[in-house]
Amino acid sequence: MKREEYTKANRLAWNEAGPVHKKSRFNDLLKNFRQPGYSYLDKIQTEIFKEIGLDGKAIAQLCCNNGRELLSLKNLGAGKCVGFDISDEFIAQGHELAEAGNINCDLVRADIYEISEKYTKQFDIVFITIGAINLMPDISALFDVVSRLLKQDGVVFIYEMHPFIDMFSWDDKSDPPTIEYSYFRDKPLIIDEMINYWDMSTYKSSPMYWFHHKLSDVISACLENSLVLEMFREYEQDVSSTYAHFEKHSNALPLSYSMIAKKK
Ligand SMILES: C[S@@+](CC[C@H](N)C(=O)[O-])C[C@H]1O[C@@H](n2cnc3c(N)ncnc32)[C@H](O)[C@@H]1O
Repeated sequence: MKREEYTKANRLAWNEAGPVHKKSRFNDLLKNFRQPGYSYLDKIQTEIFKEIGLDGKAIAQLCCNNGRELLSLKNLGAGKCVGFDISDEFIAQGHELAEAGNINCDLVRADIYEISEKYTKQFDIVFITIGAINLMPDISALFDVVSRLLKQDGVVFIYEMHPFIDMFSWDDKSDPPTIEYSYFRDKPLIIDEMINYWDMSTYKSSPMYWFHHKLSDVISACLENSLVLEMFREYEQDVSSTYAHFEKHSNALPLSYSMIAKKK
């Protein structure tokens, strides 16, 4: 399948996810964003943004979903904030949240691979989080876009699910879990039973394509695109909700990571 066909299919699946997620926690989010200065970011993200420094910085978030992380960054003192996502539904929800909190962020319905040239070299920070990398059919082209968006000496900050967990089924309750997929596989999973990660219910969906990228793929794609690794950390915490029960295994597993790379 061509990249655009994956995007088309994934847009459909995420547009279907929109109303499902909205029923779960959206009213809480609306209520929270009505409070001035509200931040949805977890402790790890908040600490890393303190290390990077946020004040007045221009930030782009790729695959921003309903923008809750980007709106939080704006509340914490960021400058110009622009979020990009393919889903019409989630971008619309993001506009509602921004309006509720009177927060000035641009949330743009766009395929990451097609982001307009007008955003080239506009950002100090590009932010990619939880469940975004796995939706990218072409990892090298993703970091080509990241590099294009960044000003010189700008940084990309990634906070993601560890690709190690792609080897297991999310609903595997055994300890240790059973290896189901090769770490070296190159075919996407086709998911037609989606998980609503707000309440862990599942529902039938149009097919969504989930791509496994090894850590070395992510790091190599950065290096190929003039992005030099500055920080890399691994955690035993699940950041996706989907693998939360893996945190209880008798031997800790790498469930998430953070990474910063700087544009040369
Ligand atoms: C798992 S969500 C989450 C990301 C965000 N960290 C969050 O927790 O809300 C992934 C998002 O990626 C978006 N997405 C998938 N493929 C995309 C593409 N090619 N361009 C832009 N957005 C994309 C989906 O619409 C979805 O909102």
